[in-house]
Amino acid sequence: MFRLISFLVLTFILGISCLEKSTLAKLKKFVNCESKAYKSSHAIYKDYWVLENYVLAEHGDIPCYSNVTYTTHADYTYLDNVVPLLERWRSPLSLAIYAPGTDFEPTIQSILYLLQCHPGHDLVRQLCSIHLYFDVEHLPQVVLPPETALKEPANCNGPPPYENVFKGNMYRARNTLDYPVNMGRNIARRASLTHYVLASDIELYPTPGLVPDYLHFLGRKVIGIPGQQPTSPLVHVLRIFEVMSNVSVPNTKPELQEMLKSGEAVPFHMEICEACHRGPNLEEWINASVVSQELNVFNVGHRSENNNNWEPIFVGTVEDPPYDERLTWEVSGTV
Ligand SMILES: *[C@@H]1O[C@H](CO)[C@@H](O)[C@H](O)[C@H]1NC(C)=O
Ligand SMILES: *[C@@H]1O[C@H](CO)[C@@H](O)[C@H](O)[C@H]1NC(C)=O
Ligand SMILES: *[C@@H]1O[C@H](CO)[C@@H](O)[C@H](O)[C@H]1NC(C)=O
Repeated sequence: MFRLISFLVLTFILGISCLEKSTLAKLKKFVNCESKAYKSSHAIYKDYWVLENYVLAEHGDIPCYSNVTYTTHADYTYLDNVVPLLERWRSPLSLAIYAPGTDFEPTIQSILYLLQCHPGHDLVRQLCSIHLYFDVEHLPQVVLPPETALKEPANCNGPPPYENVFKGNMYRARNTLDYPVNMGRNIARRASLTHYVLASDIELYPTPGLVPDYLHFLGRKVIGIPGQQPTSPLVHVLRIFEVMSNVSVPNTKPELQEMLKSGEAVPFHMEICEACHRGPNLEEWINASVVSQELNVFNVGHRSENNNNWEPIFVGTVEDPPYDERLTWEVSGTV
């Protein structure tokens, strides 16, 4: 069996990677947000310790209106996705990792591996903010301050510590702890330096160039009163597809259309939960050819009536309502 790789599609073309000054000036004027100080901190939140920004990205401070952050959650066994994701996203990533008890140590080893050994470590250092969280009842044996822990040399000779992990041996499995998925989603989104976020699952790889295309799109849309949010309470939903793991993820819509025709790509989770991901006008979207180099809205939908099971992935803002923290994933059911 091949693992399916999933990806998100919003834009049609490879984006131009730098933002025009006029767009930035417009966003600065119109987006109502406050930039944050970028630093590490820790606090107890509900029944969890949260180590926010345990790993600080080298990008440093970012004006809140000027970029989009991909916010997501994982345990250390999913960290193989970080570099492929960043190669396409190339913008800030805010990642919350659940690391209870003895899962903490391999989590740190995995992070060190990504920061020091992986061929993509420059991207990780530049773009990746990492937060750790664990139950107050399932503390790791030792939690060093990040300045100390991140100075340790990684073992670059061995395999990545996040690969080929037998999940039944993980602390979480042995203690039958649920995976607090929405806690992670909320931690990652709260820590975002930018107002606009793509809150997603780490296995969903976005279209290259999405962030500059999206910011240009916003720049074209903002009108009205400075300081008023141009888009709230709207969100911009992305389409999701999957390809077999032995073919590469398409970069453009024409490539995707070819792969859908040949059967190498399929709409996301069509067999598992069609209603959760189909969204309105899927066939029309697939069939429509690219008419503009610019990113645009294809159609407007509502999550109601026929679409009330829809679980869209979208670009929203840090002010969107939090995810319901009572929802967890059971031990065996992650992604
Ligand atoms: C977003 O931030 C990253 C990291 O600083 C930077 O490389 C990228 O160019 C920024 N994107 C835009 C559109 O300014
Ligand atoms: C990928 O795997 C499928 C199923 O085994 C096979 O039919 C297909 O030819 C493979 N494609 C490539 C490009 O290797
Ligand atoms: C697909 O697109 C073609 C032209 O682009 C159009 O003629 C056809 O009616 C469309 N089919 C569907 C099912 O939307």
